[in-house]
Amino acid sequence: MEKTYLMVKPDGVQRNLIGEVVTRFEKKGFQLVGAKLMNIPRELAEEHYGEHKERPFFGELVDFITSGPVFAMVWQGENVIATARQMMGATNPKDAAPGTIRGDFGVTVGKNIIHGSDSPESAAREMGLFFKQEELAEHSKLINEWIY
Ligand code: PPS
Repeated sequence: MEKTYLMVKPDGVQRNLIGEVVTRFEKKGFQLVGAKLMNIPRELAEEHYGEHKERPFFGELVDFITSGPVFAMVWQGENVIATARQMMGATNPKDAAPGTIRGDFGVTVGKNIIHGSDSPESAAREMGLFFKQEELAEHSKLINEWIY
């Protein structure tokens, strides 16, 4: 079963949007397999966003993601990586369609509520950065018959 790493960013946590975000993915039919509220150490934030190291907003991005707790999650389901990205909406909330998380709740590009892995490779890397294998739950295969 495909898995992805999703994270409610500090702005989403402060605005009490954890429940809203979780509800959207639950109602869609995806399964939560791991979750924790945590403060990201600066080193981990720099590694997580390593591919953006040379970009002008890198420092701002790391400052922001370490500025308060995030809600780190692993979700599973068919095509969950691409579908979660669609449900999140465009990176810049001004371009995100209504009905998406960023389209409904975000205003500025930096504070865009949620992060989601953009490929199977980044999902594997990010899940490994934030979760140990034993922190991920296994669902009974039976439950999938109600969804698929
Ligand atoms: S994407 O989705 O990776 O293609 O988006 P990208 O434009 O490359 O942005 C990568 C992450 O950087 C955040 N971002 C910014 N943060 C602060 N200030 C500015 N100007 C800015 N521009 C982009 C953006 O929200 C992406 O964060 P994540 O957590 O990956 O969504």
